[in-house]
Amino acid sequence: MAETLTTDSGTHAADRDVFFPQPDGSRVPYAVFSSQEVYDREQERIYRGPHWSFVALACEIPNLNDFKSTFVGDTPVVVTRTADGFACWVNRCAHRGAIVCREKHGNAASHTCVYHQWNYSCEGDLQGVPFRRGQKQGDIMLVGMAKAFDPAQHGLRKLRVAEYKGLLFATFSDDTPDIEDYLGPQMLPWVDRLFHKPIVYLGCTRQYSKSNWKLYFENVKDPYHASLLHLFHTTFNIFRVGMSARSIPDATHGLHSLITVTKPSVETNTASAYTDQKIRSMQDGFALEDPYVLGQIPEYEENCTNQIQPIFPQLVIQQIHNTLVARQLLPKGPSNFELVFHFFGYEDDTPELRELRLLQANLVGPAGYISMEDTEATELVQRGTARDGDKTSFMGMGLDAPDQTNSNITENLIRRFWAGYQRTMGY
Ligand code: FES
Ligand SMILES: [Fe+2]
Repeated sequence: MAETLTTDSGTHAADRDVFFPQPDGSRVPYAVFSSQEVYDREQERIYRGPHWSFVALACEIPNLNDFKSTFVGDTPVVVTRTADGFACWVNRCAHRGAIVCREKHGNAASHTCVYHQWNYSCEGDLQGVPFRRGQKQGDIMLVGMAKAFDPAQHGLRKLRVAEYKGLLFATFSDDTPDIEDYLGPQMLPWVDRLFHKPIVYLGCTRQYSKSNWKLYFENVKDPYHASLLHLFHTTFNIFRVGMSARSIPDATHGLHSLITVTKPSVETNTASAYTDQKIRSMQDGFALEDPYVLGQIPEYEENCTNQIQPIFPQLVIQQIHNTLVARQLLPKGPSNFELVFHFFGYEDDTPELRELRLLQANLVGPAGYISMEDTEATELVQRGTARDGDKTSFMGMGLDAPDQTNSNITENLIRRFWAGYQRTMGY
């Protein structure tokens, strides 16, 4: 494989058709959204590299031997609750490669491959092989498995697992740092904010988008779009320019980030930023018949209306009013991804708060009042960029103030993401 070449103005991987003309992440070649070669490299360097991929909330598998089928990148894995904690293994039989566990969720002390009935413990160890010692047939002994066969060498491929306050992560790599170090000091207080006490699982929605997974990562690092694309956000005063904001990248590699928005304690005229510029996302004259969906019961020290926190590469933590979600982002080839919204609440929720959380689940997910536009937007970009892979986007919002962290009209977080992505991918 050819060496990566570095030029004065950017980097170019000579063996592939990907060229970032600026090292600051402000221009992204469209090839990264549709190239199979880039996608395959991501599977190796990101999902099988030194990163923690979010696989489940621990409360999805609350009892011993509970399991969940999911993915790390596009590799199928199973997460199980064991006597010692949690296990995660590649869902591929050590015999001939069949999917072992075919259910999404369940409880099982062991898992049996349907093809030839090899049986594995919930830790992924091989426990039984039919006819291993052959079979007597009349006077003849039919020979079984090769004498040298050692079951200990034929377990399922295991991943490392880390739990952080009810979030479960898995990694293929021995080089991935401890989960606290991986999350980093900028992100941890905000993960703690939403996971500071025991949570309960409320259910999930699933959707597919015909677009590249990184377009969704751009989207959740993009406060600029939030008050422009989403009429509901702006019209009903959930997210507007003029509210106090945070846009914070993690300092280690810039791949995680945090956006928060908090209404000013004294009402200011945040609508004027839209009405003065005639921006279409601010619609006067609209009202909800039942405004209860827009309510917010204060439950944190700072009463943010939005906390959007992508944790690279498979998780977005979200609080919008009182709806709490761990979004799981799963790539399905260069031009498709699956997005699962895992809704949760706290064990000690009052009935009133629980009801509001469930009602506000309507704000997000595939048909969410706010978020249904997001995957439409990522698909528009996918369709617009499918050709001309050497052409680039231009992200200049906030470019002259790269350290400004109190703005929600900025593309700083996206640029930091692409700079980190370039390093991770060797581009
Ligand atoms: S492929 Fe699983 S037992 Fe044969
Ligand atoms: Fe959005």
